[in-house]
Amino acid sequence: MVTVTFLTPPMKEKLVVEVPANARVTLLNLMKRYNFPRQCVCGEGKCGSCAVKVAPLRTSARMVSLSDMERRELLHAGKLSLEESKSQDLKDIPPRWRLACQYVVADEPVLVAF
Ligand code: FES
Repeated sequence: MVTVTFLTPPMKEKLVVEVPANARVTLLNLMKRYNFPRQCVCGEGKCGSCAVKVAPLRTSARMVSLSDMERRELLHAGKLSLEESKSQDLKDIPPRWRLACQYVVADEPVLVAF
């Protein structure tokens, strides 16, 4: 099991969700399952409307790399700078913003904010 902690301003408390390992669920799937009031348009990584901040909850955590499509859309949406993009490649530093429809929950606990 891995935990995904959601923290958004409309919520009075954080919501901690446990996801079975290898469930292959996206953050957007979880957000829909728990009825988060978030408008996400395409669900295919093409519009940027689902961008959320994702932070690892373990300092040693390795985050899933950005796909070319996710990188392109986050750059286009202004959620990722060229500098952050290069840092992610060169230093394996995870970007702050991810597309909820493309981020598949792995084996690292994360905090999701939007
Ligand atoms: S819903 Fe369009 S990029 Fe995620």
